[in-house]
Amino acid sequence: MFYHHLIKPILFHLDPESAHHLVATFLTLSKKIPFFHKTLSVIFQYPSSRLEQTIHGIRFPNPVGLAAGFDKTTELFPTMIHMGFGFIEVGTITAKAQSGNEKPRLFRFPKSKALVNRMGFNNPGADQTEINLKNQQKLGVRGINAGKSKVTALEDAVSDYVYTLKKLIPYGDYAVINISSPNTPGLRSLQSKQSLIDLIQGIQKEFQNSFPIPLYLKFAPDLTEEELIENLKVCLDYKISGVILTNTTLDKQNLGEENPPEGGLSGGPLFEKSLRFVSLAYQTLQGKIPIIGVGGIDTREKALQMMEAGANLIQIYTGYIYEGPFLPFQICSYLDKVVKERGYQSISQLVGSGKIK
Ligand SMILES: Cc1cc2nc3c(=O)[nH]c(=O)nc-3n(C[C@H](O)[C@H](O)[C@H](O)COP(=O)(O)O)c2cc1C
Repeated sequence: MFYHHLIKPILFHLDPESAHHLVATFLTLSKKIPFFHKTLSVIFQYPSSRLEQTIHGIRFPNPVGLAAGFDKTTELFPTMIHMGFGFIEVGTITAKAQSGNEKPRLFRFPKSKALVNRMGFNNPGADQTEINLKNQQKLGVRGINAGKSKVTALEDAVSDYVYTLKKLIPYGDYAVINISSPNTPGLRSLQSKQSLIDLIQGIQKEFQNSFPIPLYLKFAPDLTEEELIENLKVCLDYKISGVILTNTTLDKQNLGEENPPEGGLSGGPLFEKSLRFVSLAYQTLQGKIPIIGVGGIDTREKALQMMEAGANLIQIYTGYIYEGPFLPFQICSYLDKVVKERGYQSISQLVGSGKIK
């Protein structure tokens, strides 16, 4: 109520990027207030042992994560981890600092609860991020999302990713190779089978075939179903720890706008596609590696659907902007209720328990 009637009208009066900066500045400054983080935890966290899962040795207090792109500088992590999330994925971070594309580059579509962005990996770069993270307390699960610098040629992608990963792995519980942003020219071509194999092998070789923390790949929803399945099989063959489905889509048909801006679409219109991809991935992977489901989750029911389709964990971004800071709490309390009602001991029993989509 408070968010919808007071905060959201003020934020939505501003252009989307200024609104994000205002919130980020508020959160960064407020952490100096005594007991601020403790107070946030009391207000926003829904603690329940039924929601806990340990995946690849990482204990997730609940399955609701903040998706990559919200905390591109990694500076919001210490505060956001107290806002009811089970984990936060920071980044995308690239080897070199980037200012991203020209503004405006983020657009709201409130009727569809959607966003279109062409941010272009604006981030402080791996060196500065290492300094940020070194000075930060880590009080929860942190994923490190790595991308390719715009100025680096596709042929040199491996060394670019490896540079970032080597710098930041000490500060992450898991790492993500992002090859699915539509806003870095050519990046998505790394998802074609042979390029994907070369990329994975190249990275693994740099780590003597023993990557120190779980390594996830994040895919686009614009792959064909055949391509997705092919890539999932590559993930199994090359011992990737898990997959994130999905990034934003270039397909804006569901948005219903005549001249939508260029960029990737997220939020409501993406949900069915992400859900379908998660379901397909669950059938293909058969629980061998975990799936993080993301795309258009803006209600507790959609969160449940995503887990029933096969997601071990979920992430939100656009839904958080439209529904506000209580969304993780609302999702957690609902999932806990469902787990209890069904007589399950743990949230993990929900995973893949739905009808095939
Ligand atoms: C403004 C914005 C910036 C984003 N930046 C990134 C990014 O840097 N790296 C990434 O992997 N995904 C990024 N994403 C994609 C989200 O992590 C997520 O995969 C996608 O938005 C679908 O989830 P949603 O519908 O809940 O927003 C971004 C999304 C938005 C809206």
